[in-house]
This record gives sequence, structure tokens and C-alpha cells, in this order.
Amino acid sequence: MDHSKTPTIQVTASGKVVVTNAKEILLLDGEGNPIVKRNRFTLCNCGKTKDIPFCDGAHKQ
Ligand code: FES
Repeated sequence: MDHSKTPTIQVTASGKVVVTNAKEILLLDGEGNPIVKRNRFTLCNCGKTKDIPFCDGAHKQ
């Protein structure tokens, strides 16, 4: 099956949460306000990011 255009959330082997084809996904903050996003992004699941909810690489430090 071709998933090249399907909105997808993938948990990688290393535990990253990668979202692709995100144009149709509505990403909301805790108050229900839309969060501006790219078409592909990685969600932070370590709690160290300064760019919530996105991974900014801080997990590597
Ligand atoms: S997963 Fe949290 S900064 Fe990358």
C-alpha cells in the first residue's frame, strides 16, 4: 500500500514520534488553539524541548 500521501504518525525504533503529510492534521494546544506546523515534524516526547510540542534536538544534550 502506498502511504506516500497519507497523514501518518510513526513511532520509530528509537522512540521518535514523526508526523508526515500533516496538512490535514489539526494540531491543537491545551486550550484548543491551532498550532502552526510544518508538513513534516517530530513531536517531543522527552520534555526538554523549548519549542513545545516539537522536538528541537534538546533530547541529545
Ligand atoms: S524528543 Fe524532546 S527535544 Fe527531542
